[in-house]
Amino acid sequence: MIALQARVGKPDTRHADLVGQILFEDKKVFKHQLDEVRRIAGALPPSVEAGAFKAKRGQTLLLHPGGTARYQMLLIGGGTVATFSLESARRVSAAAVKAAAGQHARTVAMIAPDLPALSDSAYARAGGSPYDLAMALAEGGALAAYRFDKYRTRTAGEFPGVSSFSLIVPSRKYLRAASDGVRDAAIVCGATWFARDLANAPGNEIYPATLAQRARLAGRRHGFAVTVFDEKKIARLKMGGLLGVAKGSRNAPRFIITEHAPRGIRSRKPTVVLVGKGITFDSGGISIKPSANMAEMKMDMSGAAAVLGIMQAAARLRVPVHLIGLIPAAENLPGGNALKPGDILRHYNGRTSEVDNTDAEGRLILADALAYASRYKPDLVIDLATLTGAVVVALGHLATGMMGTSATAMQQLSKAGERTYERVWELPLFEEYEKLIKSDIADVKNVGGRWAGTITGALFLKQFIDSYPWVHLDIAGTAILEEPGEYSPRGASGVGVRLLVDFLRNYKS
Ligand code: BES
Ligand code: MN
Ligand code: ZN
Repeated sequence: MIALQARVGKPDTRHADLVGQILFEDKKVFKHQLDEVRRIAGALPPSVEAGAFKAKRGQTLLLHPGGTARYQMLLIGGGTVATFSLESARRVSAAAVKAAAGQHARTVAMIAPDLPALSDSAYARAGGSPYDLAMALAEGGALAAYRFDKYRTRTAGEFPGVSSFSLIVPSRKYLRAASDGVRDAAIVCGATWFARDLANAPGNEIYPATLAQRARLAGRRHGFAVTVFDEKKIARLKMGGLLGVAKGSRNAPRFIITEHAPRGIRSRKPTVVLVGKGITFDSGGISIKPSANMAEMKMDMSGAAAVLGIMQAAARLRVPVHLIGLIPAAENLPGGNALKPGDILRHYNGRTSEVDNTDAEGRLILADALAYASRYKPDLVIDLATLTGAVVVALGHLATGMMGTSATAMQQLSKAGERTYERVWELPLFEEYEKLIKSDIADVKNVGGRWAGTITGALFLKQFIDSYPWVHLDIAGTAILEEPGEYSPRGASGVGVRLLVDFLRNYKS
């Protein structure tokens, strides 16, 4: 992670190679802000004086201040004050970091917008606090600075990436709120970087055993408990789905249990179980996938990566929830002992499934984990899974598919999605869809045909939940990006970490 900090006063060359300043297009505000820029950077170029920079949303202009200032200054359009939201704040900081990378500037300072001027903004209308604004500004910077470059040999003189982001607040009055916001952004973005790193890592580095090692390491470092079941134990527990999927690979499965139980909390605080799909590589198995883009399927453990990121952040933030993270981990390969179409599996709770397509493997391993979750008598269970290509068809890469049995939890997740901009969108679980996954010979079939694939995936999972409230998040579209996002390079986005951390911090059962 890059270093994040909050400071008071003027930007200073010791702390920044590039200084970002947000401007708003509202006439009066804009004029006032340009005066401020002149005070910091000296005379403006004639083009700016002639009105070339209008502070439209996303517009940027790089200045090279004269005099003693050695930093470059980036003017960033914030659009109108009325439309300025927490997401605008993230994008503005991201623009500063991206411009810095383009200029080979390693350290960035962002001047926080003047709060009284924002009293009429979308962010303020949505009930945002100075803390929220500082956190969003820091998040945009930290998330945009992410690179997955550990496998690249750096050539001499190559830019190593932005290493530091400072938030400059205009007065002492806001320093406390800004420092808190920046501190929490560092925790949540550190956890998002961790999730991205895990998901981007190739299948020859992350397989079930090494995923379990990473979980142990993170638990030790950040203060949550980790227990790992090996194949023998998984067999003794009769987790037939996890065992079945793993059979096609020489890499044995693991069942990873993580727990954040703050002192004294177990008896009085709600218990939430998170379940993350941990397919470390999905070839499709015997129902093998086409080779185009199959490499993306190294990220089929993005749900597991998110769960580990959430555990890390929840522990560091001391979130007052008894939190369990369950990860069934396996590799889906077409080996000599692999699962075959037509096979029947018996899951942890005794229910059986007919495997019609070995590429619908995620639900087979999640079935065991969801059944196992009832041991904790949870107030809520949420699973995160790159479960279906169909959710990408339905929602693209902009929203996570959400289905479940708890309207309250889904409403709270929608709100968390708006705040973090990791948006979720509900799809229906109408009972009539259930006949699509009926099996003649087992309790349920693992595929439902061409239509409503995301819903039939969720309905399969629903067969394995107990009486607890449950929400399923299909992150296949949002976790794996084919094109860069606003503050995420292509590849793993780390989606779910900010969403669930926000949700859990506001959770009341
Ligand atoms: N891991 C895939 C889903 C996926 C697809 C994730 C694209 C990310 C991007 C999952 O295991 C899968 O293969 N699902 C099948 C289900 C089908 C066989 C019912 C699919 O979506 O095609
Ligand atoms: Mn699959
Ligand atoms: Zn899969």
